[in-house]
Amino acid sequence: MAQPDRLVSGGKRAEDRLDSAMRPTRLDEMTGQARVVENLRILIEAAKARGEALDHVLFYGPPGLGKTTFAHVIANELGVNLRITAGPSIERAGDLAAILTHLHKGDVLFIDEIHRLGRAVEEVLYPAMEDFALDIVIGKGPSAKNVRLNLPRFTVIGATTRLALLTSPLRSRFGAVYRLGFYDMKAIAQIIERAAELLQVQVEPGGVKEIASRARGTPRIALRLLKRVRDYAEVRANGIITAQVATDALNLLDIDSLGLDDIDKRVLRAIIEKFGGGPVGLDTIAASISEEADTIMDVYEPYLLQLGFIARTPRGRVATPLAYQHLNIAYPDQPGYQEPLFQLGDDE
Ligand SMILES: Nc1ncnc2c1ncn2[C@@H]1O[C@H](COP(=O)(O)OP(=O)(O)O)[C@@H](O)[C@H]1O
Ligand SMILES: [Mg+2]
Repeated sequence: MAQPDRLVSGGKRAEDRLDSAMRPTRLDEMTGQARVVENLRILIEAAKARGEALDHVLFYGPPGLGKTTFAHVIANELGVNLRITAGPSIERAGDLAAILTHLHKGDVLFIDEIHRLGRAVEEVLYPAMEDFALDIVIGKGPSAKNVRLNLPRFTVIGATTRLALLTSPLRSRFGAVYRLGFYDMKAIAQIIERAAELLQVQVEPGGVKEIASRARGTPRIALRLLKRVRDYAEVRANGIITAQVATDALNLLDIDSLGLDDIDKRVLRAIIEKFGGGPVGLDTIAASISEEADTIMDVYEPYLLQLGFIARTPRGRVATPLAYQHLNIAYPDQPGYQEPLFQLGDDE
């Protein structure tokens, strides 16, 4: 999916390549997501004790929250090989068959963006995940024969930003499904401190706090902001990240006190100024600010929902009084919508 090249998006940017050095390799090093970590610990220990392959695992949640990292950590904890691929890069059924026949017993196959697998490819994946078998057709026409190849027992780890786009047969083949939510400030602060140590940059507690509060609860963004602030500290100060240095650097980057950037604000302003506060459909918002609806849904909306700046109602998105307040716009006496009686859940 095309993602705009903006600093606070959870999506990957070229500069994030260096992050592999900061990527945790053990469960113990994972900060936050305590419930997921605890569940995985049990899952992994049980599989190891039985000498079996781990159950198939699915991670879902906004970009930058640790889906890929968890896949690496799990393979590492199991002491098995990790084969990495992604939905869009497996074009034909034969491509997947080739990957599957090269797996060894217990290996982990990580499929990123698993909601983007093609139909024909999914058909091959079902029996592979369920029966560890590969059904292939040999020959053509009336003499064609179905042959079933046995595969070693292996583990699929799937990752997606859009659980709702997964077909239900595929979803049902995962024994464990974990939602990764935004990290709290304390966890983000710990991640920044650990990264600062690895980068050998000195950050004062006030500086950590300033970066953490603008990182949108997202480790990838926290690390990215830390690197930008480090640059600033080296060029404009004495290299030490104080609260003041962090504030100045982040203001210069145009990221506000809650981590919102220009595009978040355009989304909010569109709802408030063009559509009377809502309700308005996501596609309409996207069109009115010339952004892709998919991008808004994956990247911008989850955090705005988390902040309570927008709400989902059966008739579309609405801007809440908190959003008006943050943008310094007077909340109308008679808003275009009434407080929603109920909201749709996270999974749409
Ligand atoms: N729980 C965590 N603890 C420490 N660092 C993390 C954690 N989760 C993610 N990170 C860091 O954030 C970065 C982005 O995580 P990643 O797994 O690539 O996210 P996703 O695959 O969900 O988009 C990684 O480089 C990793 O170093
Ligand atoms: Mg990833």
